[in-house]
Amino acid sequence: MPASEEVVIDAPLVESALESLAQYGAYGATGVWRTAYSPEWQEAQDAVARLCEEAGMAVRRDAVGNVWGRLAGREDGPVIASGSHIDSQTPGGRFDGVLGVVGAVLAARALRERYGRPTRTIEVCSLCEEEASRFPSASFWGSRAITGRITPEDVEKVLDFQGVSIGDAMRDAGLDPTLISSAHRNDIDAWIELHIEQGPRLEDARLPVGIVSAISGIRHYIVDLAGRSDHAGARPMEGRLDAVAGAAEMVTALINVALELGPPAVTTVGRVAVVPNLASAVAEKVTFTLDSRHPDPKTQESMHAQQETTMREIAEKRGLGISWSIPLALEPCVCDPDLVKILEHAASKQEIPFMTMHSGAVHDTQNMARIARVAMIFVRSKDGRSHTPEEFTSTADAVAGIRVLASAMYAMAY
Ligand code: HGY
Ligand code: MN
Ligand code: MN
Repeated sequence: MPASEEVVIDAPLVESALESLAQYGAYGATGVWRTAYSPEWQEAQDAVARLCEEAGMAVRRDAVGNVWGRLAGREDGPVIASGSHIDSQTPGGRFDGVLGVVGAVLAARALRERYGRPTRTIEVCSLCEEEASRFPSASFWGSRAITGRITPEDVEKVLDFQGVSIGDAMRDAGLDPTLISSAHRNDIDAWIELHIEQGPRLEDARLPVGIVSAISGIRHYIVDLAGRSDHAGARPMEGRLDAVAGAAEMVTALINVALELGPPAVTTVGRVAVVPNLASAVAEKVTFTLDSRHPDPKTQESMHAQQETTMREIAEKRGLGISWSIPLALEPCVCDPDLVKILEHAASKQEIPFMTMHSGAVHDTQNMARIARVAMIFVRSKDGRSHTPEEFTSTADAVAGIRVLASAMYAMAY
């Protein structure tokens, strides 16, 4: 590709591919509800496989159900890979993850149609269970398989909210969990993930594209508070063991830790369950989730320590029992500086305005960093919103991101 040549991406094809995937698990007018290994997820993965075939790629599925498209290079050697996930929040938006899968396939397709067979192999991947929206302790299941981070015990231990093991869900989808170790890869040189930003920074900066230089670390806690159920009228305020009152004090204190640290620290309590959940009974038990993130390793550690101390102190003061599990813990990920430069150069060459930024959301890319050089491309999210059916990215911005990806793929594979 001569330096100034524009990579041409078929915008109507981008739009129709995104629309067609949005129909699997459609939720209302613009949302999706598509959990890992569900029938709608399986249909969407089949649609991704067709998209890869139409792009002239050889298609295979690995042992956990990740769909791989392969554009074989003339030379052997480590591959250039790109992709994302198609499972969603419940409900979620139709761009989160899907744009990275469609973008990778259509970028590779545009290069094959314009420049023929690449020198180095290009692979695209549609990963499973990134969101953990069905299996709370299976975040990044697809990239964990690729990076060899699933143990045989996980398969029966990881349960969904109905108590179905991820092993049973895989078997119901025609997969064999005993073969999971065969999904492990050690032949990927570079992994680039195109993704919506899911936050407001690109929109605030009036830019279509971001090049990601670092990804936040994250910890998920599932916290159980144990109190004592009592009559709401007959039990005096003095001496109550009120799990909801304790949770309410903790939630405010935990969010204040992030507010006092200031941006980019973030803390969210998104799920709360109360037992017995009755208007006239003091709550016996509360289970809540704590999602806490920071891109700096030291600050992340001290934030988690401070929040754990806060929870223990409040539980102690209120006479509540407290325990927690940590189903997700990831350090921050620094993207490969050379890859970031290739992406910045690709955006400049394509005359696409961009900014280099860190990611507040976490991504499979953090896992892939264990076996490959990694980086990400963001495109603008309308109103900075995601993880909601209202999530939206314009076709123009989606095409801009795919052009950057295609130009970088060309620089590395042709
Ligand atoms: O929560 C996240 O950052 C990702 O979208 N699962
Ligand atoms: Mn997401
Ligand atoms: Mn995502």
